[in-house]
Amino acid sequence: MNIDELIKNRRATPPRFLSGNSIEKEKIQRLLENANWAPNHKKTEPWRFIVFQGESKQKLSEDIFASLQKRDDAGENVNMQKAEKFKGNLSRVAAAIAIIFERDVAERLPEWEEIAAVSMAVQNMWLTATQMQLGAFWASPQFLPLIHETVGVKENQKFLGFFFLGNISMDFPSPGRGDVTHKVEWR
Ligand SMILES: Cc1cc2nc3c(=O)[nH]c(=O)nc-3n(C[C@H](O)[C@H](O)[C@H](O)COP(=O)(O)O)c2cc1C
Repeated sequence: MNIDELIKNRRATPPRFLSGNSIEKEKIQRLLENANWAPNHKKTEPWRFIVFQGESKQKLSEDIFASLQKRDDAGENVNMQKAEKFKGNLSRVAAAIAIIFERDVAERLPEWEEIAAVSMAVQNMWLTATQMQLGAFWASPQFLPLIHETVGVKENQKFLGFFFLGNISMDFPSPGRGDVTHKVEWR
């Protein structure tokens, strides 16, 4: 695929359109290597990732559900339907990569610049996955702030969601995009 095709063929493929069949570690390593080449200001390289596959993914799924159930039982009013759906999603994907942002200790940059850099790292992974004909999806469920400890997000980090990866079992249609001419002003 040339660059235009690659960009336009990249899809957010929902887990129900993915098969949980495993993906070789080497392929995931290539995605992460490309993520690591994202642009970033002042060489902060603020992206961090935790890869969950196989048994660790299964354990993560059980631990997240149990910790949300505990909070709900304690009266925190967690949306357990969403928690149940998320558990199902985790069973359908081959790997879940926690997308984490670690801010420069000296805070030399505004936070948004660092989050922008992490997002660019994710796009690198996503485009690489597209070229490998793997399905991918960025999931940012509402309960993310409640599961930091369960996932292993540290005090000095922020959790931006999961990058799901899987083999595509069925193509998911593109929602398309509005005309770019409405978003650009030429002077
Ligand atoms: C930061 C970020 C978070 C996202 N979180 C979710 C999510 O939690 N649930 C979801 O259905 N899609 C999520 N998406 C994917 C969008 O829904 C998807 O990109 C959009 O529908 C356009 O589809 P396309 O990427 O296939 O063109 C997220 C995308 C981004 C960039």
